[in-house]
Amino acid sequence: MNTVPVNGINLAYAHHGEGEPVVLIHGFPLDHSIWEEVVGYLQDNCQLIVPDLRGFGHSSSPASSYSLEDMASDIAGLLDHLGLEKARLVGHSMGGYIALAFARLYPNRVAGLVLVASQPQGDSPEQKKGRYETAGRVAEEGVNVVLEQMLAKLSADKGIQASISKIITSQDPLGVAGALRAMAERSDSSPVLSGARFPILILHGDNDQLIPIQRAHSMKELSNKADLIVLEGVGHMPMMEVPGDLAKELERFIFPEAE
Ligand code: MLT
Repeated sequence: MNTVPVNGINLAYAHHGEGEPVVLIHGFPLDHSIWEEVVGYLQDNCQLIVPDLRGFGHSSSPASSYSLEDMASDIAGLLDHLGLEKARLVGHSMGGYIALAFARLYPNRVAGLVLVASQPQGDSPEQKKGRYETAGRVAEEGVNVVLEQMLAKLSADKGIQASISKIITSQDPLGVAGALRAMAERSDSSPVLSGARFPILILHGDNDQLIPIQRAHSMKELSNKADLIVLEGVGHMPMMEVPGDLAKELERFIFPEAE
């Protein structure tokens, strides 16, 4: 992993390959390692930038509160550091919320947007309240609180659950609580999709227990730039459940002219 100071934190990132830049943004409460198999498929064909978001993996956790826009601005700082004006952004779940925040802040820096198991809407008042309660419990009791709440819903595959469990238990409670509060305060990103001038790909498993497939269908309706690919029998973790299929779809999106 490399590290770069941005916005007062140290942001860790992996960097593979050359050519078209693609940023792979992990979801909650995970880190860059969820993309490992997808990286294996794509690294010979494009340039992959795979950060640990602030508060996760090897990146530092700020003590004060922050927003998804701050997390998006960390990615802009990382692109600046790498001398890249534009990139395709691939966001998984919370990573998709951050990619949408990035597109709101820096629309001209987005060459394309892929939303994997994600959604544009903000939280309902009850969800928001639940996030704050969970953040308080994580700060006091540790990350097992989110592990218990989420693990079975992330994937039905026991082997994948075991890998995810290792990733979640290695996260810093401060970062996990910080991201929960940031997600609670996120705004509706639907206008980003309806006003987008860049291509959008929505990849969603029809067995996603955290963000139901219906949300992906409604999201597609928001933009005439969006294509939707439904991954059959797949849950919330397509990059671990069907990495080869996901990589193939990403490759088609990155190199449409090769079709
Ligand atoms: C994620 O997978 O990133 C989160 O479950 C998203 C969320 O909690 O809204």
